[in-house]
Amino acid sequence: MKSSVILVAAGRGERLGLGIPKALAKVAGKTLLEHCLDVLRDLSPPLVVVVAPSDHLAQFEELVKPYGLPLKVVAGGDTRQASVKNGLAVVDTDNVLVHDAARCFAPRELFLSVESALDQAASVVPGIGVSDTIKEVSEGWVEKTLERAKLAAVQTPQGFQVSALRSAINAATVDFTDEAGLMEAFGHKTCVVAGSDRAFKVTTPADLDRAEVGQANFRTGIGTDAHKFSDSGELVLGCLSWPEYPRLEGHSDGDSVAHAIVDALLTAAGLGDIGSNFGVDRPQFKGASGEVFISETLSMIKSAGFEVSNIAVQIVGDKPKVGPRRAELEARLSEVVGAPVSVAATTTDGLGFLSDARGVAAVATALLKVRS
Ligand code: CTP
Ligand code: MG
Repeated sequence: MKSSVILVAAGRGERLGLGIPKALAKVAGKTLLEHCLDVLRDLSPPLVVVVAPSDHLAQFEELVKPYGLPLKVVAGGDTRQASVKNGLAVVDTDNVLVHDAARCFAPRELFLSVESALDQAASVVPGIGVSDTIKEVSEGWVEKTLERAKLAAVQTPQGFQVSALRSAINAATVDFTDEAGLMEAFGHKTCVVAGSDRAFKVTTPADLDRAEVGQANFRTGIGTDAHKFSDSGELVLGCLSWPEYPRLEGHSDGDSVAHAIVDALLTAAGLGDIGSNFGVDRPQFKGASGEVFISETLSMIKSAGFEVSNIAVQIVGDKPKVGPRRAELEARLSEVVGAPVSVAATTTDGLGFLSDARGVAAVATALLKVRS
């Protein structure tokens, strides 16, 4: 890309209401500013000017450092237009793209299509059709219904010839909400290219939720395990003791719930299964409790870049009677896993080895979130 980019990020984010500049709000663990810079790093423009709130310059400098882009941080002004003017002062290319840090998911293709339209116009904006009917309203009464087919919602990045924008912004005596509006007032025709749904502006808390859902990246996993009852001992199931039932057989404590959870976590992360991870080559886990298996699995999935969103378990068999202790079991497992674990139980309508209380089976599903 040959144009410089001015990233306006000096707003206060009043409508978002987090008490921090909006560009420092986080989605999927990263600030809006960093999401913008991820896209810009790909485009490698000759200069990125980050316009930051004057009282947060050091923090912004710190955040932009790892990006290794040709980059300047300058202080913003009281209005967006003043911020753009400050940014423009350090630009020395022929063309510039002005972009809202708040539109941090605008795709790279949008930057490229705006830039290429600058060959034929001094001012270029991305626009998308509106889905709501827009009316002019005055004191609670509609004055006019606008013709929807002719309307476009305008986004950023907006592209400009630097000399034309500089003349307009220096001569301006009133504030415009975007630079294309300013250029229009100074007689420049603005070309509209196709905008993108992904270039929406994060303005309110609902926009932040939308961004978070859009960025979420999940993996599901499944695990099953079954063990038969022995004649003695005390049952351990779901990391909980059930003294009125005998122990389950198995090379460990036979905790089929814990083992199903381990397989659900491992399959979600694509890390194999309980046999391939805790087999003979790791003798320290021989005879380990279900809780130890779960803890070790959690540290493995964490190292692989995942965190647990939730786990659901279904216990299958005539015994134990889960209902009376369901809440206790869910609390215990949620504590062990560090995320919500819910538990259901069912019998098998008199069929199979689970019908006459010879054993207990468990099925578990896990949902993992990919950490960014
Ligand atoms: N902006 C700026 N300088 C200002 C005002 C706004 O650089 N004085 C930037 C914002 O950081 C944002 C973009 O212009 O990236 C669009 O503005 P807006 O969505 O209104 O952001 P805020 O002004 O931060 O939000 P609010 O109006 O809710 O306070
Ligand atoms: Mg604002």
